[in-house]
Amino acid sequence: MSDCCKPIGFFDSGVGGISVLKTAYQLMPCENYIYYGDSKNAPYGEKTEQEIKELSLAAGRFLFGKGVKAIVMACNTATSAAVLMMREKYNIPVISMEPAVKPALEAAKGGRVIVLATPATVTQARYLGLLERLGAGNRVINIGCGGLVELIENGQTDEITVHGYLERKLTFVKDTQIDSVVIGCTHYSFVENEIKSYIDKAYHTDCKVFDGRHGTVKHLRDMLDSLDMRCHQTNAGRIEYHTSGQATDVGTFLKLFDDFDV
Ligand code: DGL
Repeated sequence: MSDCCKPIGFFDSGVGGISVLKTAYQLMPCENYIYYGDSKNAPYGEKTEQEIKELSLAAGRFLFGKGVKAIVMACNTATSAAVLMMREKYNIPVISMEPAVKPALEAAKGGRVIVLATPATVTQARYLGLLERLGAGNRVINIGCGGLVELIENGQTDEITVHGYLERKLTFVKDTQIDSVVIGCTHYSFVENEIKSYIDKAYHTDCKVFDGRHGTVKHLRDMLDSLDMRCHQTNAGRIEYHTSGQATDVGTFLKLFDDFDV
């Protein structure tokens, strides 16, 4: 295999990164991919910074050992805690996620933005620095959604469950005009419709939804182009799935990949 056609490695704490992988596959169907879901250790979002760093390094080691040409940290939580360390450690492009707060603020035109992300992401210095740079002030309402990743990992993604979860989480955000919602965790992309329908109903709005996965995938493509690292094969690429959890997780990854509507 020529160097350019080496696979691109993706990792996440579990199923979340599949939403990013599918988006990348849609944009670059002739690339080869390896996905690593660290399902044994999900959720990352309720672990310490040090634990998330160690798990991210281990995932990086796994993918690097498979000979990938680039690593996509398909996880906002791992990015917040460990992206700088990963870039120091691995001598290949490391692409990461970031909650799409900037476009959400621009689109909200004075209204407020709800950011849904893991408890770790919304308290990490990297994310708080982003809010400061953007001058977000009190226009951004950060919601650390402990427990939501577990629901999604368990396939409990129906509207009643997700609405019930958000109802409990957002009771303190009352009488507020909400214009935009940021999906700040790659798992939540699987319940984007349910999130939007809840916010629209609860806040009498027609909110715009922003998800950083599109920007991440475009950045990946541009980075590979600029380094002349795109695979030039014309047939559809291969996707290989790995998990640190149960063998049955791979079946879940495959099904989510097939069903996910980019
Ligand atoms: N999917 C991940 C993210 O984007 C992390 C979820 C978790 O394990 O808590 O933040």
